[in-house]
Amino acid sequence: MIVRLRSVSKIFGSRIAVNALDLDVPPGLCFGILGPNGAGKTTTLRMVYGVTRPTAGSIEVFGLDLKKHLRAVRSRLGVTLQQNVFIEALTPIENLRVFGRYHLLREPELSRRIDEVIEFLELGSHANMPVRQLSGGFQRRLAIALSLMNRPELLIMDEPTTGLDPAVRLALWSRIRELRAHGATVLLTTHYMDEAQRLCDRVAIVSDGRVVDEGAPGDLIAAHLAPEAVEVDCTPEEESALLDGTIRAARRLRVGRRVTFYLSDAAPLVERVRAADHRRPLVVRPTNLEDVFLALTGTSLEAAA
Ligand SMILES: Nc1ncnc2c1ncn2[C@@H]1O[C@H](COP(=O)(O)OP(=O)(O)OP(=O)(O)O)[C@@H](O)[C@H]1O
Ligand SMILES: [Mg+2]
Repeated sequence: MIVRLRSVSKIFGSRIAVNALDLDVPPGLCFGILGPNGAGKTTTLRMVYGVTRPTAGSIEVFGLDLKKHLRAVRSRLGVTLQQNVFIEALTPIENLRVFGRYHLLREPELSRRIDEVIEFLELGSHANMPVRQLSGGFQRRLAIALSLMNRPELLIMDEPTTGLDPAVRLALWSRIRELRAHGATVLLTTHYMDEAQRLCDRVAIVSDGRVVDEGAPGDLIAAHLAPEAVEVDCTPEEESALLDGTIRAARRLRVGRRVTFYLSDAAPLVERVRAADHRRPLVVRPTNLEDVFLALTGTSLEAAA
C-alpha cells in the first residue's frame, strides 16, 4: 500500500474531525475521498502529508511510519492544497524556481523541471506575469505545476478542479491520467461526482470522519442502487400512485418535488407516467455515483412500500 491509515483520529477541542479511520491506497491508482462539507477530507489529507498530527492511530506512507520518516516521505510527495499558496508578486516561473530550491534542486536540473511542468500544464503563455494577475484556472494549473516539481510518487490533491471551467477540468483529468499511467499514485478529494466516477479507480465515501463505503465507482453503484434512475416531479400522493400494482421501485429519493426512482427496468414506470400525462417532464438515466453519495451521506432514501 502507498498509504495506510489505521484507526486514525483527529480531535479539535470537542470536535471529532476524523474518527478511527482505516484507509488503504494501493499503488498506481487514482483514489478519491468523497464526502460532504466538514466530513474530514482535508484533515485526513493534511495528516497524510504530515502537517497535522493525528490524535490517535498510525499512518504509513510508502511503507514508512510517518512519525519517524516525515522528511523522507515528504520529498517523495506532491501536494495541491484546497487553497492556492503562491508568492503573488512573483511570476509562475519565479514561484516554481523558489519551490524547486526548497526541494534542493540545482541548475541545470532546476530549469529543466520548470520547463517540463510549464509545458505539461500548458502555462507557457502566462509564465511571466505576476501570479496575482492570473485567472483562477491558471492559478490552479500553477498550483499543480508546483506540486509536480519534485516528480512525486504520490500526488495529494485537495479539490484540484474546484472553480475550473469544463475545458480546463478536462485538460487536468487527462494530465492526472497521464501521471497515473507513468506510475504515480494520486489521492484526491472532489465534490464533483462525475469527476470521481470518470477519474478515480477507487473511492472512499466519508461522513462524520468515518468511511461509509469504499470501492470502484461502478461496484459501489451496483452494490447500493438499481441501475436505472427515473426523475419526475410529483406530490407524495402521485408518487405512491405511480408505484401501485406491478411496479416496484427498489428505492426512491425525494428532494422537494423531485423524486428519483431506482429500478432494474425503467420502462414500466416511464409508460405509466406517460399514460397519465404524456407531456410531463421526465428524466431517464443510468444511476450514477452522485445517487450513491446522496444515499450514503444523509439525504433520506425510502425503501419501496
Ligand atoms: N484547525 C482546526 N481547528 C478546529 N476545527 C477544525 C480545524 N480544521 C478542521 N476542523 C473541523 O474539522 C471538521 C472537518 O474539517 P475538514 O476541513 O477536514 O472537512 P472537509 O471534509 O475537507 O470539508 P470541505 O468539503 O468543506 O472542504 C470540520 O468540522 C472542521 O470545522
Ligand atoms: Mg476540505
